[in-house]
Amino acid sequence: MFVLPTTIAVLISFLAVIAYDRIRTRFFKGRPRRKDVEIPPSPKIVAYNDTKSPGADEGRGTVALTEKDVIADENMQSHKQLYYKLHNLEHHPDILPECRELLLSLLSATIAEAHKHKDDTILVLEKFSPEKLQNFLTAKDDDVTGQYEEYIARRKAGGPRELFGDQAEAKWWLKQAAPVKYVDGAWLGHINNVTTPFAFRKITKNAWQVMSEELGDGDLAKNHVHVYRELMENINAGLPAADSEDFIHARHELNEARCWKAAVAQLLISLFSHEFLPESLGFNMAYESLPLHLLKTIKELREVSLNGYYFELHICIDNADTGHAAMAMAAVVDYITLIEKSEGQEAAEIAWRRVQAGYILAEGLPTTPESPSLKSKSNDASPFPRSETEGQLLEIFAAKCAVAHKIHCNSRLKIGRRTLVDWLEPHAFADPNWQKDFLHDLGNCKPWIIKGNSEKSKLVKELSWEGRMFGSFMQSEVLIVKAWINELGTAPQASLPDPLVYSNFTKQPLPDQSVFESRNPDILEQYPVLSGAQTLPEPARTLHEYLSDKIIEEPPVDISSIKICNLLPLWFVSTALLESLPSVPVRAADAFGSALIRVLRAQAGFEIEGPGIAGMAEVRRTDSGDARGIVELGLEMCAHAGLPKPRTLKEVVALGDAESGAFAEWMLWMGMRWLTYRDVLLGMSWAFMEVHEAIGRLEGSDSRLGGDARRILMEITERERDGLETCKQELERDEARRNAFERGVAVARRTWRLMSEVESENDRPI
Ligand SMILES: [Fe+2]
Ligand SMILES: [Fe+2]
Repeated sequence: MFVLPTTIAVLISFLAVIAYDRIRTRFFKGRPRRKDVEIPPSPKIVAYNDTKSPGADEGRGTVALTEKDVIADENMQSHKQLYYKLHNLEHHPDILPECRELLLSLLSATIAEAHKHKDDTILVLEKFSPEKLQNFLTAKDDDVTGQYEEYIARRKAGGPRELFGDQAEAKWWLKQAAPVKYVDGAWLGHINNVTTPFAFRKITKNAWQVMSEELGDGDLAKNHVHVYRELMENINAGLPAADSEDFIHARHELNEARCWKAAVAQLLISLFSHEFLPESLGFNMAYESLPLHLLKTIKELREVSLNGYYFELHICIDNADTGHAAMAMAAVVDYITLIEKSEGQEAAEIAWRRVQAGYILAEGLPTTPESPSLKSKSNDASPFPRSETEGQLLEIFAAKCAVAHKIHCNSRLKIGRRTLVDWLEPHAFADPNWQKDFLHDLGNCKPWIIKGNSEKSKLVKELSWEGRMFGSFMQSEVLIVKAWINELGTAPQASLPDPLVYSNFTKQPLPDQSVFESRNPDILEQYPVLSGAQTLPEPARTLHEYLSDKIIEEPPVDISSIKICNLLPLWFVSTALLESLPSVPVRAADAFGSALIRVLRAQAGFEIEGPGIAGMAEVRRTDSGDARGIVELGLEMCAHAGLPKPRTLKEVVALGDAESGAFAEWMLWMGMRWLTYRDVLLGMSWAFMEVHEAIGRLEGSDSRLGGDARRILMEITERERDGLETCKQELERDEARRNAFERGVAVARRTWRLMSEVESENDRPI
């Protein structure tokens, strides 16, 4: 026989093309290429450090993408970008419409999914009552505990680990989870702003306390992001700061799409804090309940000798008795009860649906990575081949590899993780998982395969007339190859679910996105508002421009000369100067940020931080009215002065004159720009701390508050001074930062001076 079998001819011609390309390249370029032309980029899991996927080295780390994975992969890059931009929002205000649209689509997608198995979700609670909710959450906890017992029984019977195979894979798993862990608490980041209607304040304060505990209540050692960061250092993950652009760089191999998606959802849900308040409370309730994977993680990390402290911490702090789960449920119950009381039964039913929507969003987005070694096993159950064409293509390769392997070729041609010869080893090729991996790697093997475009794919060109492999595949086989390549382009595309699913479920009319984009938000009511400085009202613009002038020391102003109506707007917004800090948890994960958390806690009237966790005790303090902060004392000042009780910040501002309102708006505007004005804001906070203190000292006819309230205020200012002093010490080492701080002090004092000058000119009564 002198006629070569077709399969051998195919392989030889394929290799000949590769060899020719290599020789041509070296001769004509005059130097070896870093990557041989026949070794196309492969979709491998690369060894970056010791947290690489252990499966990668063994050629089993990457598996064929499922349909769901394809969608996730397509979205992952945009989620990474959003993650970075949401950490630096003030520099990317243009993403707000996109963020809102994405949030609505995520809500819609998870609601649609939950409806498919309604009885297993919170949808089973069609009508809200505190008892029903309590029973639902208790039953869910019992179910988790029961599942964990079953898991323990499986393990005792010799079953394998279910989250990661070995220590190397556990390290990889921990690293992949970092994008989510670094935004721990972010879903509550904007929940208790000064622009939140005061009627909701007790509820939002209780939710804020949950976040405060995520941030260690201002104790860095207890800060969850910090604890996770230490774990990352411990396993040499080599990750940069979560808010840096580097964090989303591909070289870090953070490729678990669902972790990015869950992290972005956490950042999004609280972003429009007023518009999506019930959803945020529902989201919080789901996140703070006990998940099965947490229990498994602790056990399996112990087994592979890794530190599980971060996870153990959450078992304790999130407990349903006095911990975050209890606090989260209390916030939901209080919210629905309040809505029913103030707006009626129908409004309460809608509010409940919106809480459900938030809960479903959190439940519907897994936050944990899928370990490669276990992913393969879980895919075994899915139908394969996934299409008729895929089956036909596999038949072609299966027939050819049986013969091709006999030539024992030493070719280095790589298709993804393996050489072509290795892929076509007949015994291995009989395994469906092997076939899946082969198709996956072949499909991602540019330029040989250009998904969706067989005409541009090098493989098809070489198989066609005048191609160097012409004739090695029968025409009918070439047609199947072409059809398969073209079908790769019709893989499910990333599409946004119809926001109407959310709208129909919650009975919320959905404003046109263009209306949202073109709106001119009121900074006194909306959040966030990031329009330009040119939109600042006068005289605030002049004050803002003063920030770039030479620093002129301003003496403290005699605050007793300011009329109460003009003092109040600035009094309330003084809490907004630092309030955006915790919306990016990583900012609070150092000594500086922790000190500011303590300042914010003091301003909100939370208890002095102790060695333990306050949990429900703080909720009870707030509910009983004992947690009196700057806002509550401001409302007491209104009562003291005989003014009508304002319901919102806007109504507070309406009490004062135009100048006072303009200054208040400017301060809100500044507070939303933490990255640009951090140290200026710190200086302004220092000057406002002096004002808080001055008001606390006013006695007799000058007094603005009762004796008890003044005592509380003095305690608050002492804690403010303590926290701000810690930050100030850090600034002392840096001249530019110190100057910014001093500028902040001066501009705040100037604000008061300008106000008193305007008042004396106008000589208005209160
Ligand atoms: Fe946490
Ligand atoms: Fe928690």
